Amino acid sequence: MNRVVISTKRLNLRKMRIDDVENLQEIFSDQIAMKYYPSTKNEKETISWISWTIDNYKNYGAGLWIVERKDTGAFLGQCGIVPQKIDGKTEMEIGYLFARRSWGNGYATEAAGACKEYGFGQLQLSKLISLPDVKNERSIKVAKRIGMKAEKTINKWGKEVLLFSALA
Ligand SMILES: CC(C)(COP(=O)(O)OP(=O)(O)OC[C@H]1O[C@@H](n2cnc3c(N)ncnc32)[C@H](O)[C@@H]1OP(=O)(O)O)[C@@H](O)C(=O)NCCC(=O)NCCS
Repeated sequence: MNRVVISTKRLNLRKMRIDDVENLQEIFSDQIAMKYYPSTKNEKETISWISWTIDNYKNYGAGLWIVERKDTGAFLGQCGIVPQKIDGKTEMEIGYLFARRSWGNGYATEAAGACKEYGFGQLQLSKLISLPDVKNERSIKVAKRIGMKAEKTINKWGKEVLLFSALA
């Protein structure tokens, strides 16, 4: 079964499956990659994350996808479109988390930019957001590079995050 949802020059974004636990554990067990999250995630929490993602595919036609190198199939990270509650309203967020060995190659920007196109194109969304921690410079740079604009700082997950958005 072809699970690829989006293809870019260097990358395939494919549907996540339960046997991606090991791939995702590379990111979720890394304290540096998880610096702006409440904690690292163990195997059980990673399985819940995959279940939440598979539910999102059913409920929203989108979720986080696994990002792989097209030429080698190597796992690089996850990127996609996920629901987030902002002021009581569900907004769709472009999210990205990559394995540390893959940072600094433009992969997150390439994947997130393709998700933005997919959200406005195939999914016909009128707005997309991004919610980087105010101190997460790498993440803020990705949001800016894909053409998102900072609206304001909000409190989410008990911390200050920047609300970036883009309109179709
Ligand atoms: C946020 C995150 C995905 C950003 O990763 P990143 O590697 O910095 O971002 P990109 O993949 O877009 O790479 C950009 C860098 O690659 C460089 N680069 C190298 N080759 C490139 C190429 N061929 N094309 C484009 N950029 C390239 C760019 O110059 C840029 O360098 P800079 O950081 O010095 O400006 C990563 O830090 C991460 O996974 N963090 C942990 C999870 C997290 O915090 N997620 C965000 C939650 S909101």
